[in-house]
Amino acid sequence: MASSIVPPYDRLAEVKAFDETKAGVKGLVDAGIREIPRMFMHPPEILNPKAPAAVNCLEIIPTIDLGSTNRSSTVEKIRRASEDIGIFYVTNHGIPMSVMEEMLNGVRRFHEQDVEVKKKFYTRDASKAVVYNSNFDLYFSSVAGWRDTFASIMAPTPPPYEELPEVCRDIMMEYSNELKKLGVVIFRLISEALGLDPDYLGDMDCDKGFRLLCNYYPACPQPDLTMGVAPHTDPNFLTVLLQGEIGGLQILHQDQWVDVTPVPGSLVVNIGDLLQLLSNDKLKSLEHRAVAKEKGPRVSVACFFRSLETSRTYGPLKDFVSSDNPPRYRETTIEEYYFQHSLGKPIDDNIHRLQRLKL
Ligand code: OGA
Ligand code: NI
Repeated sequence: MASSIVPPYDRLAEVKAFDETKAGVKGLVDAGIREIPRMFMHPPEILNPKAPAAVNCLEIIPTIDLGSTNRSSTVEKIRRASEDIGIFYVTNHGIPMSVMEEMLNGVRRFHEQDVEVKKKFYTRDASKAVVYNSNFDLYFSSVAGWRDTFASIMAPTPPPYEELPEVCRDIMMEYSNELKKLGVVIFRLISEALGLDPDYLGDMDCDKGFRLLCNYYPACPQPDLTMGVAPHTDPNFLTVLLQGEIGGLQILHQDQWVDVTPVPGSLVVNIGDLLQLLSNDKLKSLEHRAVAKEKGPRVSVACFFRSLETSRTYGPLKDFVSSDNPPRYRETTIEEYYFQHSLGKPIDDNIHRLQRLKL
């Protein structure tokens, strides 16, 4: 008699076997799979409504010209964008087009190099200078995203040059030097937009440290069954995102997912949880995700500005607290907020993370 017993699905075994290949999602695609493994299949409530809203994101997301000489108008635009929607494009930001293109090429070279070389960087030890893996939260989340990432803290102090991947170390250094300057500019504008002294957020170290996340979203044979990265908010002060010509980023706007179309030469800036906390909810850390695509690979570089002074305390600033508007969050440290509650947690958990600090 033939047995009809189907063994129970052993997710952990599937995840482990995938992790041990150290070749990421790209390894699956290179092996020619036509159907995505079960560990990547997202539940319908996350996938739906998958269809993006039929709106032009350029009508919703403001573009801020950082080359404008009308500073008060720029500050006002940043204020409105950061309060109303939490995301904006920046143009004339000072980073040469050639540097942005080479950064995207460098990320692609890293992910597409000889897998034996790439494997040496594969780790889940966040203290390593370069952390390459697929899904930081692979062992904590219920479902995996269709992406591979390598990341390095590049400011205030980058890792020793020789520890960075050979195929992209020069451009990582160059792009990071550009981002250091841009970070100062943006945090000064946001400080002013909040009615603070221009150096206020910089003096709080908001612009001093960042990690570069170099994402690679391989072409996906069944994009309707998975996501590149599940809905989340960013656990930092601010993100500056460089995306290649293939889009995929979406923001949740009025309960609908809206495509954030790549605009050549521009960067996307979004407010993270810690600026929402500092501003006592005046600024919005918005929910976003990246869809999987049949076309690919898609490359993006997210710069996460986050103070590396892990013991420093952050809470709602006194300027945004009054008897009519009491603090909405308790104080936290980078150590507590990021190292205890973000690392080692599913990425979509951080939608609730700010809630946990609510008073
Ligand atoms: C992230 C992120 C979006 C993208 O890394 O936090 O939201 O388009 N990335 O890669
Ligand atoms: Ni994000």
